[in-house]
Amino acid sequence: MQLQISSSFEEQSSTIIIMDKKEKAKERKEKRRQEISLLRTIPYSDHQRWWSSDTIAVVTGANRGIGFEIAHQLASHGISVVLTSRETAVGEEAVKVLQEGGLNVSFHQLDIVDLASVQAFCDWIKETYGGLDILINNAGVNFNYGKENSVEFAETVIQTNYFGTKNMIKALIPLMRPSPAGARIVSVTSRLGRLNSKRNGISNVSVRQQLEDVDTLSEEVIDNTMNKFLEQVKDGTWESEGWPHVFTDYSLSKLAVNAYTRLMARILEERPEGHKIYINCYCPGWVKTAMTGWAGHVSPEEAADTAVWLALLPDQFVSGKFFAERREINF
Ligand SMILES: NC(=O)c1ccc[n+]([C@@H]2O[C@H](COP(=O)([O-])OP(=O)(O)OC[C@H]3O[C@@H](n4cnc5c(N)ncnc54)[C@H](OP(=O)(O)O)[C@@H]3O)[C@@H](O)[C@H]2O)c1
Repeated sequence: MQLQISSSFEEQSSTIIIMDKKEKAKERKEKRRQEISLLRTIPYSDHQRWWSSDTIAVVTGANRGIGFEIAHQLASHGISVVLTSRETAVGEEAVKVLQEGGLNVSFHQLDIVDLASVQAFCDWIKETYGGLDILINNAGVNFNYGKENSVEFAETVIQTNYFGTKNMIKALIPLMRPSPAGARIVSVTSRLGRLNSKRNGISNVSVRQQLEDVDTLSEEVIDNTMNKFLEQVKDGTWESEGWPHVFTDYSLSKLAVNAYTRLMARILEERPEGHKIYINCYCPGWVKTAMTGWAGHVSPEEAADTAVWLALLPDQFVSGKFFAERREINF
């Protein structure tokens, strides 16, 4: 009896400790949200503004959600934004909303997994603007909600979120215009794709090490990891292979973009002054958009903030890093 009382007391105290930790984490998050909303009210000074209305930013999947807000905020800072979407009608409608607000935004169709569409877009951007200065890789898909973890659409998820994003980075790097401030690439990824996450990381040590060591990391390693997962999905063995267990296909696709960001930063580092390209990724938090069934607790406006902040960093020398709420976080 005595023992039972003490064990239930221990259980109760550990529950209290967990609740306390959760409460503290919630408080910290709320405090950071308030700090950022304050930071957003501080205008960039003239010497910080490396951009002008001639600066061209391309945002993928910008007809709605976080992408639309990134386009909106970049344009509000006086940048010329190219809002892209795979469906012309909805993209044109979104552009109209921003143009009616007096913003400099144009539209072009772009499906990041359709190589003909990517090529047509590149030809157009070269002909119309001679290139671009900022690329925001926002387009993405996810087919799971809540506690679901179906891999029925794994092929589409990996093809869009990883291979599609890679298509864009490869196709647009040659079109990024030289400038003293450097061109910028920002990809919207997720904390779900953290390599070393205790709760959702890759538990296969050799796969994790291969993806972790940036000196030996290669495109082939990342591609092979994604293809291996997709093969296991086809033959039904993926569940016992130590992949992330929350939204497995989505988490892996974002983990791959994170790894590709680090790889590209290493490759782009070699570029001479005046031709620099800085590449980073960030997690927007859990956002109220179609992707979460509007179940998140962050608004698209707040979620867009770190992308815009990264794209506009004055004196940017940061590359190959992962951010959330305007702070660097671990991969
Ligand atoms: N919401 C969150 O909590 C959350 C958290 C972490 C990361 N993210 C990431 O944030 C990004 C934006 O997501 P969201 O929450 O704003 O979701 P969303 O409202 O579903 O927006 C996704 C956008 O991507 C577009 N898209 C999908 N496949 C495409 C393709 N092949 N080519 C071009 N565009 C394509 C969609 O176009 P259609 O309208 O044609 O479908 C849509 O415009 C995604 O990369 C997502 O993974 C979101």
